[in-house]
Amino acid sequence: QSPKSTLKDMPFKFGASVSAELLRTNSSYKALVIKEYSSLTAENAMKFWALHPLENTYNWKDADEIVALAQANGKRMHGHTLNWYEVPEWVTNFSGDTQAWENLLKTHIQTVVTHFKGKVSSWDVVNEAIDENGGYKNTIWVQKLGTDYIARAFQYAHQADPSALLFYNDYGHDYNPVKRTAILNLVNGLKQRGIPIHGIGLQLHTRYNQPDEDITSAITSAAATGLLVHISELDMTVNPQSDANLTFTATLAEQQAAKYKFIVKTYYAIPKAQQFGITTWNVTDGDSWIPGTYSRPDWPLPFDANYKRKPAYQGILDGV
Ligand code: XIL
Repeated sequence: QSPKSTLKDMPFKFGASVSAELLRTNSSYKALVIKEYSSLTAENAMKFWALHPLENTYNWKDADEIVALAQANGKRMHGHTLNWYEVPEWVTNFSGDTQAWENLLKTHIQTVVTHFKGKVSSWDVVNEAIDENGGYKNTIWVQKLGTDYIARAFQYAHQADPSALLFYNDYGHDYNPVKRTAILNLVNGLKQRGIPIHGIGLQLHTRYNQPDEDITSAITSAAATGLLVHISELDMTVNPQSDANLTFTATLAEQQAAKYKFIVKTYYAIPKAQQFGITTWNVTDGDSWIPGTYSRPDWPLPFDANYKRKPAYQGILDGV
């Protein structure tokens, strides 16, 4: 085992989701991103509402900036996401027949994939299509096009860039076995039909006290598909009970580090050829989406708000 000095020295790609705004305005953040990661995902800049805010308007600026930073620094760029239920208002209000909706789906996917062709080498094609009971989420896409739009989304992406690696991305693999089974059935079904799907993204927004067995089940069952496995949005709440007065103690920090280590170790045990990499969702506790989204104090990431490495960082290094 050779000494590791940054996350770039991990034996698989290690990335983070990043904010175009923070990269522009915060030099400490930018320096840390350049120093540590071998892969980047845009936190928001490649979502439908960001890239395609109006029917005939595409806004590439933020995404292009992130892609340029990745290219200039030799980092892989992973695309997130071509299809999701969160859409801009013009899509919600779009009045067209089935053919017009199909065209909207296809045109968006192919315009975006073509724009980034040769720069973005992999995509989350469909994000979060399965609900907590193992059925399909009742999204606007399912309402307008039926559930098999998922297969066609992969085909459209593949047509636009045959060399891009295409992923189905979702959450809940760790804590919801019913949902996990439904996701694996979906993915296996697509694969068996010859639909161009190459990988499965496990978001893994997990908890510091999620039992190890659940983490193992999530990772090994995904690997059993034979597809690439991307831990695509890793973060770890230490405050799942949403205690407004919680402080981040040394004990919590060590428990968190141990769970990060276990995740990395378990991931590293799947076949090497399937290890697409691990991506954390955000960079530091200061830019994590969790405190704002769930209105609570939390410390989910391997760096603290002052850009310092936490015990979780060492846990990641020690996992391999
Ligand atoms: C989140 C971003 O982090 C937030 O900034 C935004 O307000 C909402 O979306 N699953 C996903 C990500 O696939 O796209 C989400 O990102 C987090 C959950």
